[in-house]
Amino acid sequence: MKPPYLITMLLVVTGLVTAGCAATGSTPTQEIRRTAAVHAASHHADEIATVSPTWIDGLRVVRPSGNDPTCPWSIAYPQVPGAEAFTAALRRMVEARRTDFLAQACDQADPELNLDFAFLVASGDVIGVRYTEWWLGGAGDGLSTTTRWYDAKTGTVLPATALVEPSSIGRLTADLDKALSRKEGFDAQALRAAMADSASRARYLDDLGFTAGGDLVVTFDQSVAGVAPAGQLQAVLPAAVARPLLSDLGRRVQRQVFEPTRRLDLDGRVSPTPTRPPAGPEEIADCHRVKCVALTFDDGPGPYTQTLLADLAAFRARATFYVVGQNVAMSPDVVRQTAEAGHELGNHSWSHRDLTRLTAAQVRDDLRRTDEAIRKAAGVTPNTVRPPYGAVSDVVRAQTPHPLVLWSVDTLDWKHRDAAQVTRAAVSGARPGAIILFHDIHPTTVAAIPRVLRTLSARGYHFVTVTQLRGEVSR
Ligand code: NI
Repeated sequence: MKPPYLITMLLVVTGLVTAGCAATGSTPTQEIRRTAAVHAASHHADEIATVSPTWIDGLRVVRPSGNDPTCPWSIAYPQVPGAEAFTAALRRMVEARRTDFLAQACDQADPELNLDFAFLVASGDVIGVRYTEWWLGGAGDGLSTTTRWYDAKTGTVLPATALVEPSSIGRLTADLDKALSRKEGFDAQALRAAMADSASRARYLDDLGFTAGGDLVVTFDQSVAGVAPAGQLQAVLPAAVARPLLSDLGRRVQRQVFEPTRRLDLDGRVSPTPTRPPAGPEEIADCHRVKCVALTFDDGPGPYTQTLLADLAAFRARATFYVVGQNVAMSPDVVRQTAEAGHELGNHSWSHRDLTRLTAAQVRDDLRRTDEAIRKAAGVTPNTVRPPYGAVSDVVRAQTPHPLVLWSVDTLDWKHRDAAQVTRAAVSGARPGAIILFHDIHPTTVAAIPRVLRTLSARGYHFVTVTQLRGEVSR
């Protein structure tokens, strides 16, 4: 059972990591991604809702990573001011996973641990995070997810099942069993037995969240009950079915997901205003008077984009995201959050094809379709196009709806996958007016950004969008 799991996971991970600038031809991974994109586009309502971390005043994301290239690891946890118990619990959790990984996986082939998170809710008196873990090369091969809740009313950190009233767990498992009866690719008997056993239950029911419409989504990892390795198994209980099962915490979380107050109230201490990134013309650097650089992130959005947004917000930095249309369709919420945080969205084509190999009509349709996906997700139209691979021809120039923008500093982050090297390339290449190329689909790149921001800030640089740098729009 292990080998096929491992191979598929490697394909999936490789697909995510190289989908941008390297992948060519059609691989099973691309098929999976395409299917996922279509699925997300047509069943977006089933997606677990996430929120922008910019709502959290004073949020910092701590992101340690290992330096040994033969056994790489990267973990992350949020520091939420006023919710120290939550920070401490998440830190203990991720550090324990790292300890396990270092003890068990480093003598395996191509080990890697990657632990990242997104906020499911961060308003009212509740915070929720969802962790995604990739662990390759050890006993725990594969992808797993888990959710944790913080109840500011009581100051307690709670497991996934805290959304449900303890006396209703039996009904929850029965409803899940019913919801899963139409699904295939897992061992229903084994899953039923695992959920029925109160001792093992917590391990299986460890990822609960809500869709934007308030439906309850329960996700089972692929290691559970023979779930097909191509993806996780999800059961969705409609809001009306879930509602009677919810605990007080569950009802408060559901309310905040459905209708967020957009402010976090910890210890009865209401944060003055939700954190907004610098906005308004007066706060934008005047690049004629001060040193400016434009950080640009291509090929996303990806699993690390939300972490990157938190890091940029912490430094009040603006950036430009050259997003790929099919990824936008898969993760419209992240794209919307990117725009809301004050960043610029640029067009990086629909599926990252070399545009110089397409006909004029194909180029035009590709770029128009991508513009449309961005507009639908974020309500804004891109100002510029960055052609994949920087490949430009007269045909491409003639068909592009916006100016083409390349870069002046290439960090080669996709090649090195090394945070220290990415930092060095960005810092040593920075000049007033530079456009620096990164890819936010690589965890090593996102891990490098806090250091890049700290170092360049200390050298007097301001971080602006491409359009601000080009001076075409005063805002
Ligand atoms: Ni690219």
